[in-house]
Amino acid sequence: MPNLIEDIDIINPSKEPNQEVKTTGDYNSGNKRKLYIESYGCQMNFSDSEIVASILHKEGFDTTSDIDQADLIFLNTCSIREKAEQTVRNRLNHINGLKKKKPEMMVGVLGCMAERLKTKLLEEEKIVDLVAGPDAYRDLPQLILQVDDGAKAVNTFLSREETYADISPVRLNSNGVTAFISIMRGCDNMCSFCVVPLTRGRERSRDPHSILAEAKDLFARGYREVTLLGQNVDSYKWSEEENNKARLEKKEVNQVVNFANLLERVALIHPDLRVRFSTSHPKDITDEVLYTMAKHENICKNIHLPVQSGSSRVLELMNRGYSREWYLNRVASIRAILGEDCGITSDMIAGFCTETEEEHRETISLMDVVKYDYAFMFFYSERPGTLAAKKFADDIPVETKKQRLDEIIQKQSQLSLERNQRDVNKIHKVLIEGVSKRSEEFLQGRNTANKVIVFPKGNRSKGEYVNVFVESCTTATLTGRIVD
Ligand code: SAH
Ligand code: SF4
Ligand code: F3S
Repeated sequence: MPNLIEDIDIINPSKEPNQEVKTTGDYNSGNKRKLYIESYGCQMNFSDSEIVASILHKEGFDTTSDIDQADLIFLNTCSIREKAEQTVRNRLNHINGLKKKKPEMMVGVLGCMAERLKTKLLEEEKIVDLVAGPDAYRDLPQLILQVDDGAKAVNTFLSREETYADISPVRLNSNGVTAFISIMRGCDNMCSFCVVPLTRGRERSRDPHSILAEAKDLFARGYREVTLLGQNVDSYKWSEEENNKARLEKKEVNQVVNFANLLERVALIHPDLRVRFSTSHPKDITDEVLYTMAKHENICKNIHLPVQSGSSRVLELMNRGYSREWYLNRVASIRAILGEDCGITSDMIAGFCTETEEEHRETISLMDVVKYDYAFMFFYSERPGTLAAKKFADDIPVETKKQRLDEIIQKQSQLSLERNQRDVNKIHKVLIEGVSKRSEEFLQGRNTANKVIVFPKGNRSKGEYVNVFVESCTTATLTGRIVD
């Protein structure tokens, strides 16, 4: 993962959400005004930037990856931890320098920080001309006109319906093989540490017809893997009755579509289209989802199941809706239905309010039981407006938080290596994503469990499936050779 915005947070070879910053690729159709977007935070935000690019492309903007060429700079921001917001503020500082040289350049802040701070952002960061929350992107052309007319523009209205279902995203920075599809927006859980329900609003599911159409279109264009995205995919729910009376009157399908049903429908598009999804919630993931995964070879055997803490008392304070025992029970079901090789990954928070040393040890011992393939690891950062900020003191000293995080990272390092060693001397089916970062002579791709595998390229190219015999590994990567 390039350009980590939070340096100590992860040991992770994957393209998982949260810590990267990505800039727009070039998309040039001869339009005059140039848009440059930088995206921070989770994959949702990257996906949204593709929607923004699509909306603005119709309005006469092309995208550029060269910030100096930009007429309009957008930062699509993240509020998940204080550090994420600080990164954006530093970036705005830097852009201030550019704007001095090019005063006509427009600067917009989108995403979660825009939603959280609203007009305050205009007061605090004088350089910002435009503020748009995650549900306000259809209004961007209008907001840009206001700025063209010399005003500042803000829209942070949160919607109960918006899913951008009809907007076909412009794929930015794409490898042409793997793509993300948003299947829902917002979150109705109230994890006490988390700002997402405040910045992304109520949970809503996207019309399955538009999801399937997008996946089919991607497959037809040569893509071979889609990742279905939502903050809690297990609560995906769509019913024609509630959502689309018009279609119901035409006597098309009238049924409730849950996540397992949706997953199966996407998997049935083509056996060569791999399907992944993120994020699963331990309180909601059903055996039906696990059996659906087992039934279809092309649904990848990897589950991102963030635990956050191994202590039932801390989980209760976090309002996660499950206990340590419940979590371990879900893991036992995964192992029973999908076997030992199914990848399981997690997010962990060190030093949540009132966490004792003993409770921290429970997180480490749970990691030992589950044996995660990898994890995103953070120390607790209090977010204004969250339940935890209102109810509990952020009372663990930062040195203690960092020390606990360090121990969690050490443990995960050891587990990642152990899990990768299991893969050595075995043949893995790999979808090739492109040339390895290490060398032009090597290709890289992933196996079903989302492990990165690097191998000499032979005469193969991206988008193809190959069988690779893995000969060695590190904590992050498997290395091998093609055997077919
Ligand atoms: N919807 C996903 C996670 C979204 S946020 C889920 O429920 O798992 C991604 C991760 O950021 C969370 O899983 C959590 O580990 C971390 N995180 C969220 N709020 C945080 C905070 N205030 N401090 C530190 N880490 C946080
Ligand atoms: Fe945040 Fe919890 Fe929703 Fe995940 S499920 S986005 S952690 S509130
Ligand atoms: Fe994602 Fe960050 Fe928002 S993690 S949902 S961009 S707060």
